Amino acid sequence: MEASWLVVLLRAGVQLLAFPIYLLCYLGLWGPFCKKAFPHFMARVAVYYNEKMAPKKKELFSNLKDFAGPSGVLTLLEIGAGSGTNFEFYPAGCRLICNDNNDNFRKFLDKSLSQNRHLQLERYVIAPAEDMPQIPNASVDVVVCTLVLCYVESTERVLKEVLRVLRPGGAFYFMEHVAGAPFSWSLFWQQIYDPVWQILFDGCHLARETWRDLEKAGFSELKLWHIRAPVIWHPAQPHIIGYAVK
Ligand SMILES: C[S@@+](CC[C@H](N)C(=O)[O-])C[C@H]1O[C@@H](n2cnc3c(N)ncnc32)[C@H](O)[C@@H]1O
Ligand SMILES: *[C@@H]1O[C@H](CO)[C@@H](O)[C@H](O)[C@H]1NC(C)=O
Repeated sequence: MEASWLVVLLRAGVQLLAFPIYLLCYLGLWGPFCKKAFPHFMARVAVYYNEKMAPKKKELFSNLKDFAGPSGVLTLLEIGAGSGTNFEFYPAGCRLICNDNNDNFRKFLDKSLSQNRHLQLERYVIAPAEDMPQIPNASVDVVVCTLVLCYVESTERVLKEVLRVLRPGGAFYFMEHVAGAPFSWSLFWQQIYDPVWQILFDGCHLARETWRDLEKAGFSELKLWHIRAPVIWHPAQPHIIGYAVK
């Protein structure tokens, strides 16, 4: 990513303002605090995000049932499920498997389950989405992932794992915030905020070109739209949304 001198200067300014947080990191206090506090923070943010994105989610998830297996039952794995904000959009009776690598989200997920009686959680797998040996090859019809690929260590490895667990003809649904277009104001500010944003928000990357990984991953069909999400955090407005078929 090219960064002009102005970006470098402003980025350093933002980092200077965030000096107290860097100090906490240096003392080893920030990381553990974040792992505990982030689920509380995220559960609140998610309510706002869902309000803004509900029409988009409704539309995106409207054809989930088309991917049900031969028996008519839909086996759905959500990776990085967090507090379970997508549950309300899933069809009744689907077999739900959830994954996350941070166990502190579990109580928020349980709360969402209690509000979505049309679903039953069949399994909860604590693992990085890059490596989920608990889930057999070709065993799920659909994998869902929202606001997770900005966090993962390797998007490429996650997509490989998704392709492994999906049955042939199964689909991967995604809704992710991504890098702004080249030369856009979005990308300009993303480059400035990115280092501090990553620390503040437990490792969230602001400017990933996630669509490139999706294009390269080897799905047989990719439906992908670039949209501007109607949320107040302007650096996180550029989004991709869609689904890919194995
Ligand atoms: C911003 S939250 C989004 C939660 C939920 N998907 C939503 O849309 O509300 C990101 C979630 O991804 C999880 N996560 C981050 N890295 C992960 C990884 N490598 N494997 C699995 N989950 C991960 C976090 O623990 C967190 O629950
Ligand atoms: C599961 O899939 C992986 C990757 O596609 C493959 O290497 C492995 O042999 C498969 N395992 C089984 C039990 O089929």
